[in-house]
Amino acid sequence: MRLNWSDVTPKPLWLNRRKLMVGGAALLATPALAKIEAAKSAYSTDEEPNSFGDITSYNNFYEFGTGKDDPAAYAGAMTVDPWSIVIDGMVDKPGTYDLADVVKGQPLEERIYRFRCVEAWSMVVPWIGFQLSGLLDRVGVQPGAKFVAFETLVRPEEMPGVASPFIDWPYREGLRLDEAMHPLTIMATGLYGEAMPKQNGAPIRLVVPWKYGFKSIKSIVKISLVDTMPQTTWNMLQPSEYGFYSNVNPKVDHPRWSQASERRIGSGLFGGRQDTLMFNGYEAEVASLYAGQDLAVDY
Ligand code: MTE
Repeated sequence: MRLNWSDVTPKPLWLNRRKLMVGGAALLATPALAKIEAAKSAYSTDEEPNSFGDITSYNNFYEFGTGKDDPAAYAGAMTVDPWSIVIDGMVDKPGTYDLADVVKGQPLEERIYRFRCVEAWSMVVPWIGFQLSGLLDRVGVQPGAKFVAFETLVRPEEMPGVASPFIDWPYREGLRLDEAMHPLTIMATGLYGEAMPKQNGAPIRLVVPWKYGFKSIKSIVKISLVDTMPQTTWNMLQPSEYGFYSNVNPKVDHPRWSQASERRIGSGLFGGRQDTLMFNGYEAEVASLYAGQDLAVDY
């Protein structure tokens, strides 16, 4: 069974939990709130999350169009139940798994992560998800596997954007196996205590917080364990601008704009720009993955 936080907590309580913790100690005794506190992750940032409205109205999901408001306008047509994921390649237990089986037994956590788009804007999102490593362990990664490849649903009758030949659908992404196994890498099934909104990649998407947002592929239908570096959508489209690694790096500019700073969505017209951090602020956790690599070359 898939357990959403909204199943165990009335939404207003969840949304106001910061205030409640300050002003309403009595409420901490309620079982629902205790359950949520137990699921909080040590990997969360203490920065204030963006509003639910910002997170669900300013999106990139090209299957529904290239405008920031296209996903919110059109993703409602996407059928997300039933949903299954093909897991194949170098795994002990390949197969077509129902979403419920994929999620089963994986501890769901709230992970409040910084999210940095390659277009130099950022948000803070309270995801709900589980570590990808838990899923990979369950299907059994075989010794020769070196990379994980992901694909998004392609359903032209529900996705107006896939009529565009601009991208060679399906949308594809990939991670090196050690990146995929890193505890920060999650499969997200919700945000703000709700099942994943369609425009954010329902019912399940990847979130890799130290990489530019385009690595965080949405509405995943296929996961393949492979021994060679997989093709990725943006690398196929424009290899001089988008490499395989795509680690957030303020010192390596995009050929057409600076990556040194970012605009925090929702912070208003004035101010709101801040310096971009190496690995999006997750340097202490992930820098060791790239020891010996020149990150200006392996961008
Ligand atoms: N996944 C698919 N399938 N299609 C897309 O167009 N856009 C990517 C990524 N995942 C994209 C995708 C980009 S560029 C970004 S910045 C993030 O999704 C945006 O995620 P969000 O809308 O939840 O903020």
